[in-house]
Amino acid sequence: MRKYRLVILFSGNGSNMEALFKALNGFSSKDFSIEIPIVFTNNPQAYGIKRAENLGVRCELLSHRGFSEREEFDCAVLEILKPYQPDFCLLAGYMRILSPIFLESMRVINIHPSILPLFKGANAIQESFESDMQVAGVSVHHVNQELDSGKIIAQEAFCREDSWQREEFEAKIHEIEHRLYPKAVLKVLQEHSSINIKST
Ligand code: GRF
Repeated sequence: MRKYRLVILFSGNGSNMEALFKALNGFSSKDFSIEIPIVFTNNPQAYGIKRAENLGVRCELLSHRGFSEREEFDCAVLEILKPYQPDFCLLAGYMRILSPIFLESMRVINIHPSILPLFKGANAIQESFESDMQVAGVSVHHVNQELDSGKIIAQEAFCREDSWQREEFEAKIHEIEHRLYPKAVLKVLQEHSSINIKST
């Protein structure tokens, strides 16, 4: 049976990292199993570090602050991750744009708090809240060189209530994220493992 090793990268609160770890670490089906040996952050202040500690998962930390070049930092991150031999790298609120060097050596998946291709970028929740749109949602996608533009794996939309303040709107998005992201990763691994079986 195929065993997949995943790593999770985060920069802040880490609620998606926690949801992914709880749902996927130790997962096993008839086709494949999953191990998450390590999570990583670039931010020494990230609340996710505390979450990782509570989850009992090893958390590696490397601040990007000492690095002048994006590529140089990404190479250092790859050096940290490589010994764990990850098959996929899951971004969970990782606030760094990945350089081609990183993307060429790693399959990367991301979660974005909007219905892509709408509201790309770091202010998606605010922009989608301020818009006239009556639906909002979440996307999980493969990561390519262009910001928030890789092939979409899964999306879930919801209708907003007129009475919702920003906090309620954001809470709805996070609730969906925590369910959708693990489901989307399982979908990718299921497809990946069945292709691998066929080609061997
Ligand atoms: C989430 O809204 C995610 O979609 C976006 O960054 C946020 C991270 O939240 N990419 P958390 O750190 O997982 O709580």
